[in-house]
Amino acid sequence: MASYPDLSGKTVVVTGGSRGIGAETARAFAAQGARVAVIGRDESALGEVASALPAGLAVRADVTDFAQIDQARIRIEQELGPVDVLAAFAGGQGAPAPSWQLDPARWRDVIDADLTSVFLTIRAFLPGMIDRGRGAIVTMSSAAGRQPSPANIAYAAAKAGIVMLTRQLADEAGPHGVRVNCVAPSTIRTERIERLMPAETADRIAGSHPLRRLGTPHDVASAAVFLASDAAGWITGVTVDVAGGKITN
Ligand SMILES: NC(=O)c1ccc[n+]([C@@H]2O[C@H](COP(=O)([O-])OP(=O)(O)OC[C@H]3O[C@@H](n4cnc5c(N)ncnc54)[C@H](OP(=O)(O)O)[C@@H]3O)[C@@H](O)[C@H]2O)c1
Repeated sequence: MASYPDLSGKTVVVTGGSRGIGAETARAFAAQGARVAVIGRDESALGEVASALPAGLAVRADVTDFAQIDQARIRIEQELGPVDVLAAFAGGQGAPAPSWQLDPARWRDVIDADLTSVFLTIRAFLPGMIDRGRGAIVTMSSAAGRQPSPANIAYAAAKAGIVMLTRQLADEAGPHGVRVNCVAPSTIRTERIERLMPAETADRIAGSHPLRRLGTPHDVASAAVFLASDAAGWITGVTVDVAGGKITN
């Protein structure tokens, strides 16, 4: 991993930090010398991730509930100081389902988990960044939000929404010194994917990428750390396809 000395001593929040891409991103920021708070709902998984970091903090919150996120923010600011970097990565629920059979309640759940949650998280942390005149936010889209895929339609719409949310926020927050960028991974070999995806499916999907492999949590974490660092100081409003060459247009 490249080294970004400006991140040393910064306070970083990673939602979805209890496992998968978020946990790896938390470790990557910690490796740069940042103090890192991880947010999720599974207290024991959060504790495991945070306790392995030199200055880690585990904070339980459901990111679909604004009151819980704002409480988390207050605690993080008390224990780690003002937040410099936010990686709003919590989400999921992309499992395929034919659109004409998708339960309307499930549509709402997925939009809540993958789109509304990101707005609520940013709504909690952005005002402080605006007041301080600095900050960097990284949001989480998906290849499923960049082009049609087997993922369910609510997930695709939510993740496409994240791309525009990022651009709009970058436009509004830029004059206040806050940058907002997005990562859009294709299939990433997390523990969940390892557990659920048969080996032959993984091989087939890997082969559909120009780089002929699946992504790793480290691939996404590397892009996120770069986007949050001063090395990306003139970059805002972009979506980086961490996608093994499966570029969209
Ligand atoms: N893996 C991929 O191939 C891939 C590709 C593109 C995009 N993504 C996106 O990357 C992000 C992370 O995915 P992953 O594959 O690492 O998934 P994962 O291993 O299932 O982890 C999901 C994370 O999100 C958290 N989370 C979900 N809903 C939450 C809620 N309501 N409140 C608080 N935390 C919540 C989970 O926390 P708890 O379990 O502690 O509640 C967990 O930490 C997601 O936004 C996903 O859509 C993944």
